[in-house]
Amino acid sequence: MELDRQVQQLADLIDEINKEQTSLDRKKLITLCTIDVHSRDLVQKLIDERVEDQMCFQWQSQLRYIQSEKTKTCQVNICDAEIAYNYEYIGNCGCLCITPLTDRCFITLTQAQRLVLGGAPAGPAGTGKTETTKDLARALGIQCYVFNCSDQMDYKAMGHTYKGLAQTGAWGCFDEFNRIPVAVLSVCSTQYKTVLDAIRAKKERFIFEEAEISLKSTVMAFITMNPGYPGRAELPESLKVRFAVGWALAALGRTVTEHVTCVAIFAAVPVSLAPHPTPRATLGAACVLEPC
Ligand SMILES: Nc1ncnc2c1ncn2[C@@H]1O[C@H](COP(=O)(O)OP(=O)(O)OP(=O)(O)O)[C@@H](O)[C@H]1O
Ligand SMILES: [Mg+2]
Repeated sequence: MELDRQVQQLADLIDEINKEQTSLDRKKLITLCTIDVHSRDLVQKLIDERVEDQMCFQWQSQLRYIQSEKTKTCQVNICDAEIAYNYEYIGNCGCLCITPLTDRCFITLTQAQRLVLGGAPAGPAGTGKTETTKDLARALGIQCYVFNCSDQMDYKAMGHTYKGLAQTGAWGCFDEFNRIPVAVLSVCSTQYKTVLDAIRAKKERFIFEEAEISLKSTVMAFITMNPGYPGRAELPESLKVRFAVGWALAALGRTVTEHVTCVAIFAAVPVSLAPHPTPRATLGAACVLEPC
C-alpha cells in the first residue's frame, strides 16, 4: 500500500518535472524526486526484510522528522539522537543522492553531536566527505561553512573562526585539516575543547581566549582529511579524542552512480538530474565510531 503510494507520488513528480517549469521550480522538484527515490527504496527494503517494529534499526537509522510534543517545534530523530531542527534558511540548493553509506555517515556524525564531539569523515579525495557533512547540516536546518585549510593557517585565525561559529551556532567543516602544521593543531585542540566544555556545561556565555562571548549549542566542527597523503600532518592525540572518526571509502562509487542514473531514468531528464555525472561522484562511508 505505502509502496504503491510512494511510486504514484514519484510518477506524479516526474509528470510535473516534464512540464514547463522555471529553473528554480525544476530544481525543487528534482530535490523532492531524489528524496522520494530514497523513500521508495527504503519502504521496499522494509517490506523485503519484513520489518514490523518501529524500533528496528532499519527504521531507526533514518532521519525522521517529528513535531516535538513539548516544544511543538520540529525535531529530527536518528537512532537515539534527538536534534532540534534549527530553522536556518538554507535556500533551494538541491540535495545529494542518499545511499546506505550516506545513512551510516549521518548516524556517525549525529552520534558525535549527541556525545558533544566533533565529526571527522576521513577517506580518499572525492569520496563525498565535505558534501555529506553539508548535506546533513541542510537536513538539520543548520548553516555550514566550509574552510579550506592550508599550512598558512595559525592559531589566531582558528581562534577567530571558532569564536564566530560558537556565537552563530553554525557548523564549520575544515577541509584538508591535516594540512595545518602540528604545532597549530595542538592549540586548535585546546580551543575546541573550550567550546565543547561550555556546551557540556550548557552555558549561554563563556570565556574564549580572554573574551566573553555568547554560545549557541548547535555549534559543531568537522574535520575532513585524506590520511596518508604527502605533506599532511598526523593528528595529535589530544585532537583525535575530540572527534568521532568516520571513514569514507571509495568503494561505493557504483552506489551513487546507480542512484543518479536511477533518478535520471525515472524522471527522463538525464542532464539536469545528474548533478555530478563525473567519476568523482563517489560517496562512500563505512562509518565507524572509532575509539581514538
Ligand atoms: N551522495 C552523493 N550524490 C551526488 N554527488 C555526490 C555525492 N557524494 C559526493 N558527490 C559529489 O562528489 C564530488 C566530491 O565530493 P566532496 O567534495 O564532498 O569530496 P571530498 O571527499 O570532500 O573530497 P576532497 O578530499 O577532495 O575534499 C562533489 O562534486 C559532490 O557533489
Ligand atoms: Mg572535501
